Formats: sequence, structure tokens, C-alpha cells
Amino acid sequence: MSEPVTLFVNAAQTLTAAGPARARRGAEMRDAGVREGVGVAVQGMRVVAVDADDSLRRAYPGAEEIDCDRGLLAPGFVDSHTHTVFGAARFAEHELRATGVPYLEIARRGGGIHASVRDLRSRSDDELFALALPRLARLAAGGVTTVEIKSGYGLSTHDELRTLRVIRRLAAHSALRIEATCLAAHEVPLEFRERENGRDAWIDEIITQIFPAVASEHLARFADVFCEPGVFGLDETRRLMSAATAAGLRSKLHADELHDGGGAALGASIGAVSVDHLAAISAAGVTALAASETVATLLPATMVFLGTGRQAPARALIEAGAAVALATDLNPGTSPLQSFPLVLTLAVSELRMSASEAWIAATVNGAAALGISDTVGQLAPGFSADIAVHAVDDFRALPYWFGERLCRVAWSRGRVCHSSE
Ligand code: NIG
Ligand code: FE
Repeated sequence: MSEPVTLFVNAAQTLTAAGPARARRGAEMRDAGVREGVGVAVQGMRVVAVDADDSLRRAYPGAEEIDCDRGLLAPGFVDSHTHTVFGAARFAEHELRATGVPYLEIARRGGGIHASVRDLRSRSDDELFALALPRLARLAAGGVTTVEIKSGYGLSTHDELRTLRVIRRLAAHSALRIEATCLAAHEVPLEFRERENGRDAWIDEIITQIFPAVASEHLARFADVFCEPGVFGLDETRRLMSAATAAGLRSKLHADELHDGGGAALGASIGAVSVDHLAAISAAGVTALAASETVATLLPATMVFLGTGRQAPARALIEAGAAVALATDLNPGTSPLQSFPLVLTLAVSELRMSASEAWIAATVNGAAALGISDTVGQLAPGFSADIAVHAVDDFRALPYWFGERLCRVAWSRGRVCHSSE
């Protein structure tokens, strides 16, 4: 017997993002596939039809209906860059930056990422799991249906693998689709910093212990490096990424966040699936990305929260023909943001993207940044039933009414992952 069909009907607008099942680049990002009078039929985990409400009712007589109540029907957001598994918040550091102490200086003093590392190491797996769950629920409440989560606050073989196992447990437990990334190369842990040749010893440990274990336990599909002057340099990043590739992990990079270190161009040259941040990317970096398949993932909330007064050159990237994605960067240091819709607002107001570009960046291109754009990011037949209904009648209203909670219901893989009712 075939599975029952559910129809999403009575939407004021349906943003389909329909089109090629790959990252949209440059001018392609202008078309978000917005239609009127159109609903979506879901069977099992998949979208089976996108058509006029009446046509759907004729094709699927007796199907259960979800009334969108003249709201906006859209693909769920793909939050392709988060650090959702962490312990405590870092309030003191937020205030310290307000007095003028820079982010990397706080790290040099043993705070920042190191503070979160000390904290994570002191907590049990159960605690980390329990702390992450409400964060995922808040992301889902904004219409997110896929979340990437990075390790990177363990910074020992034991604690990195432990973090990735917590992520795996979250993935098994949550209604959201969760993708894991090994970010053991988030920093050089303090105990290694104090040792002679400690940097190289830590890099060796990542390459010889962590990546092989991650690959053999299938704990992550991606490996990430914080490639930034003062953290990991270009040669170190190259070494790490070639070892990750050899272990079967696809590359992602935190690149050119605070200073231009050439990370974006390196990412493009090694075929990274995405390079993320890019607030300090050079013109050469923009050109390299535009000529590559690598997705440029922008995290505008991070720059706002750090108070840098700068943002990634989204317009230059799009106009050069790059594929731009957007994400929250949810983490305790630089972006304690659990609202994806606010990222859309920042994309328009700070990055000067159009609402259509922001929606494509948040759906199809987020999926491409996770290598899943063949099944995720669009409302189109055959795609995963990752759907959100927002209480607005125009797709531009979501970035516009900033700070509001407008998502009424969200489904991930054909199952409810958020309902405000
Ligand atoms: O994406 N920049 C590096 N990593 C995170 C911040 C980590 C932290 O400060 O805890 C980021 O901004
Ligand atoms: Fe990050």
C-alpha cells in the first residue's frame, strides 16, 4: 500500500526555489521561483507534486490538507554552518570586545575558543546533548530543516570524537536533518601551544588520529579548518585538507574572516565544498571563487555581533558569478544567534542582497554547501519534504519584519519539526 499524501494548500505565495539541482550562481540567484495559487503534495519523505491547489486535490482525492492560511509556503532553511554543540555562553567576552579588546587578542590570552574548550571538556555527553536540543528547536522554530554542526571545542582526540558522537546522537534523535563536520583544526589547544613544536604535533594528531577515526566511524562527512592569520596558515591548512581528502572527508574552510590570508583562493583551488565568512576576502579571492564550484558561505550575524563594522562583499561575489550561501554560525563566541530569519534581514540590509538572492542563498545554496543540493533546498517533485509555512503573504516580508517569529510550521523529511500551534 502506498503512503498517504498530505497537501499544503491555500498559500498566498509559494517560493519554490525550483531549478537546477546545484548551487545557483550570480544572476541565477535573482529567481527564487515565487508562484501564486500553488500548493505542494508530500508523500512519505518526498515532495511528489507542486501544482495549483485544485489540480492537487484532483490528483490526490481524499488527501489530508494543511491549510497555509494565506501564508508563505517555502523550502526549509539550510543552516550550513553552526557550532551548536557547546557548553556555556561567553558573556564576559562580549563586553570585553565592547571595550576594544579584539577577538583574536582574547584568544591569545587563553579565552575565546579556549574558554569553550575548557568548558566542553568538563561536561558529560548527556549534558552536551541536552544543551544542544533546545538550540536545535529554536532553529527549527525559525523554519530551519537542515543543520550542519561542527565539532571544534574538544581539541583532543577524545573530546573531538566525543563531540562528533553527540552530534550523531542528535542526528538520530532530532526531526531535523543534521550533517556533521570535524573542526578539530579550530585552534591549537593550549597544552600543545606550550610544547616545543606543539603546533605541528597537534596537526599531526589531527591527521594521524582524528581524521582516520572520524572516517572509520563515519562520524562526519566534512572537515573544516579555521584558516586565518594567527590561527592556521595556508601551508598548514593545505596539509590538513589533503589528509582530510585522503580520509574521504570533504573540505570546508573558515577563511578570510578577520584578515585576508588567501584562504578563499586556497579553498577554491583544492575543491572545498564551501569557504565560509569571507569578510576580509581579497579581489583575487573573489575571482577565484567565481571560477570554482566552491560555495561562498556568508555569516553576516557574526560580523554584527563582533561589532567589526565590516561585511563580506556579497555584491562583488554575486556579480563576479560566485554561488553565495547564508548561515547563522551559531556559536557561543561570535554568533549566539538561533534565528535564521534574522540572517535574511542582515543579508538584505548589510550584504545588499535582494530578498530573492537571500532566499536562494538560504535554501538551494545552503544545500549545495553541504553537497546535498540534489535532494534538498527546493519545493519540486522528488525533493525531500523540507517545508516551512510562514505567517506572511510575501516572501520579502520575512527579511523585512526583522526579529519576529513568523514560522508557523516546519517539516523535515516529511515529518513535523516545528509547530507553533
Ligand atoms: O565561526 N572563527 C572561528 N570559529 C567560530 C567562532 C568560535 C568561537 O569564538 O567560539 C566562528 O566565528
Ligand atoms: Fe564558524
